[in-house]
Amino acid sequence: MSTVGKAGLEDVVVSTSDICFIDGREGRLLYRGFDIDDLVEQSSFEEVVFLLWQGHLPTRKELDAHVKAIRATANRKLPPKMIAILRALPRKTTPMEVVRTGVSALSAFDPDAADNSRDASIRKAMRVTAQLPTLVAAWERIRRGKAPIAPNPKLSTAANFLYMMTGKKPTPLAEQTFDVALTLHADHEFNASTFAARVTAATLSDLHSAIVAAIGALKGPLHGGANEQVMLMVEKIGSPERAESFIKKALAEKARIMGFGHRVYRVEDPRAKHLRRLASELGQQVGDMSAVRILDTVGREVTAEKKIYPNVDLYSGAAYAAMGIPTDQFTPIFAMSRVAGWIAHVLEQHANNRLIRPRSEYTGPTRATYVPIEQR
Ligand code: CMC
Repeated sequence: MSTVGKAGLEDVVVSTSDICFIDGREGRLLYRGFDIDDLVEQSSFEEVVFLLWQGHLPTRKELDAHVKAIRATANRKLPPKMIAILRALPRKTTPMEVVRTGVSALSAFDPDAADNSRDASIRKAMRVTAQLPTLVAAWERIRRGKAPIAPNPKLSTAANFLYMMTGKKPTPLAEQTFDVALTLHADHEFNASTFAARVTAATLSDLHSAIVAAIGALKGPLHGGANEQVMLMVEKIGSPERAESFIKKALAEKARIMGFGHRVYRVEDPRAKHLRRLASELGQQVGDMSAVRILDTVGREVTAEKKIYPNVDLYSGAAYAAMGIPTDQFTPIFAMSRVAGWIAHVLEQHANNRLIRPRSEYTGPTRATYVPIEQR
């Protein structure tokens, strides 16, 4: 009799972890015990990074030191040779390919690259978390034939990224929205990319390698790539009046609608409501609510027809689009935030490591006779 569990490791508990808790029936998400609804209201992405890595809320002194480090130009800037590598890439290279290649290349410049001690890993963690927004923004500028903009240590992670992308300091609403989006994406238990990071870390490989593995997993449309696909769908639909018939037809054709469904949540993803509110507020500020209206109709139809609910990827893209961010940069933004969670998981894995090496149940032939090539 087969001992294989449900496909896709559904409901398999792989390990214990102190980092993140999801209640899929109640629609709750906790980082280190703190409800994301409270963190969205009262915290910031930068504080959440500290919480995820250190396991407790920082004191004022700890937070000040952490914020100073994460905003420091020494941590945020890319080595000049890294900029030269970016310039050498074909312009058509997708932003996610750049993120994957870029993090891998950054390890070659990191003085602690091969050192897996906790202190060295925290130093690397700080650098890679601070460098990722610079990398994403630099590629956006380079592919448009413009010079990258240097990071500004006076600006928060959210505001600095938007500034490096556009050359303009963001409005307070755009900064706050972006900060909340980063907070909401920072961790999510043993999702596919985090698991990829932990499997890699469990071989005693280094932090950058684990992050590169995670980026590869995040890129796919069933995971982080879904936010980009949602916006492409919105563009295809074109106007709110066309949304209902578009979705009815898509569902009749058994299409998978991106931004819906989840392996763990049986109700609406608790992150979706925050992103809907913020996308809506930003849409009002820029005077274009059509993406939000399209998504509202899509949401109603999909939930009514399929009994599946919006996930984190449904409204994030509408908020980013209202800030003028190109669609193919949505998944790199997800990586800029989730890197905080990946790092927390690598630290936890390394602190109590055992190689992750499951089995498969063999279903191939067992008595194949080798036939010499001339006789095949
Ligand atoms: N659109 C249409 N039908 C769906 C969808 C969807 N988005 N999601 C699930 N279903 C249906 C699916 O067709 C299947 O129906 P049936 O049993 O009749 O064949 C049933 O629901 C179960 O689907 P599943 O694929 O076995 O479920 P899963 O737990 O393996 O998949 C998922 C989870 C997230 C991959 C899936 O819901 C999906 O493909 N969603 C769209 C992609 C997406 O939005 N991904 C982002 C996930 S959240 C953030 C992140 O992780 O990055």
